[in-house]
Amino acid sequence: MASTAAGHELAPTTGATLVVGGTGYIGRFVAEAGLALGHALYVLVRTFGPFVSPSRAATAAALREKGAIILEGSVDDKDFMEKTLRENNIHVVISAVGGESILDQLCLLDAIQAAGTVKRFLPSEFGHDIDKANPVEPALSLYNRKRRVRRAVEAAGVPYTYICCNSIAGWPYHDNKHPSKAAPPLDRFVIYGDGSVRAFFVAGSDIGKFTMRSAFDSRTVNRAVHFRPTCNCVSLNEMASLWERKIGRTLPRVRFTEEDLLAIAKENEIPASVVAALTHDIFILGCQSNYSVDGVKDVEVSCLYPDMAFRTLDDCFSDYISSLLPHQARETRPSAAAATVDQPAVPPATA
Ligand SMILES: NC(=O)c1ccc[n+]([C@@H]2O[C@H](COP(=O)([O-])OP(=O)(O)OC[C@H]3O[C@@H](n4cnc5c(N)ncnc54)[C@H](OP(=O)(O)O)[C@@H]3O)[C@@H](O)[C@H]2O)c1
Repeated sequence: MASTAAGHELAPTTGATLVVGGTGYIGRFVAEAGLALGHALYVLVRTFGPFVSPSRAATAAALREKGAIILEGSVDDKDFMEKTLRENNIHVVISAVGGESILDQLCLLDAIQAAGTVKRFLPSEFGHDIDKANPVEPALSLYNRKRRVRRAVEAAGVPYTYICCNSIAGWPYHDNKHPSKAAPPLDRFVIYGDGSVRAFFVAGSDIGKFTMRSAFDSRTVNRAVHFRPTCNCVSLNEMASLWERKIGRTLPRVRFTEEDLLAIAKENEIPASVVAALTHDIFILGCQSNYSVDGVKDVEVSCLYPDMAFRTLDDCFSDYISSLLPHQARETRPSAAAATVDQPAVPPATA
């Protein structure tokens, strides 16, 4: 097996995987995909201080039920992480920590270097290519933190893969950092700009599935993997029409201009302003498709796995209909557009 200058073997095919942030929004999809592959899978969970929450504990219990080994600790505890990686012979580390914990990964990186068992590190990315996109503040500060982690990983010589999965499938609410947790609107669509800019939408389960594949693939070593499913490259106008066909009626459109989004971004309310800034970058500036994936450092996931299908947006929207209809919620639920950052209007669907 090949090795890097730092002595790390490449292309792990077996060995234990550690998912950090596996109880979070994106991390749970990754952990579940790992368990579905039958991998030995460890999930790091914080069970102390202000981080304990019943929903996180329930997620950890559900993952344990499916076979995950739950480890208690924090990535910013270097000695603990080094010992954990070494004692459990962890080969692959996938981090899905949230925006506020991005720099905690520098400690994790130190531990990875010291332990010497890790053959691939996937830092918490799960969005756009942060070296190509330049959103306005406060999203830019988040990108700068992620860039700092990228540069540290590269300097350390630890084999890495960056997952650029673009948008999670769901209606892209500009005020909800976990948009797929809320069904598309039932009263009116908020359309950013003229609604014609296209973006890529990927079901949460596919983010997990293709992340796990990429983590164990020699072709993705030291590259960014871009998720650009052509079947799910749609504009807001197209997405609104799809949802209207599902619910069997048309809804009014409310226009949100570039200035509207920039004004929310400028309020610097975290995380809502970050989401507004990213919404601006995606639906006004077209950041997901204004570059090509053809460099030696970039690879498109469909080229790697041409036989693996993506769930379509149509399928994902059908899931919302299934979750709404049994309770006749179509008529009775409050507006999904009114969902706040942390209070989704409906329970999570599979996307
Ligand atoms: N493409 C998209 O549409 C999209 C959408 C949302 C997020 N993202 C990206 O996905 C990544 C994950 O975000 P998220 O929204 O899924 O985050 P999240 O829901 O806030 O979950 C973060 C997870 O990380 C854990 N964590 C945080 N700090 C930790 C530490 N020091 N030690 C151990 N565990 C720690 C949290 O555990 P606790 O319970 O202990 O806090 C939680 O399980 C981010 O990079 C974000 O930018 C992408």
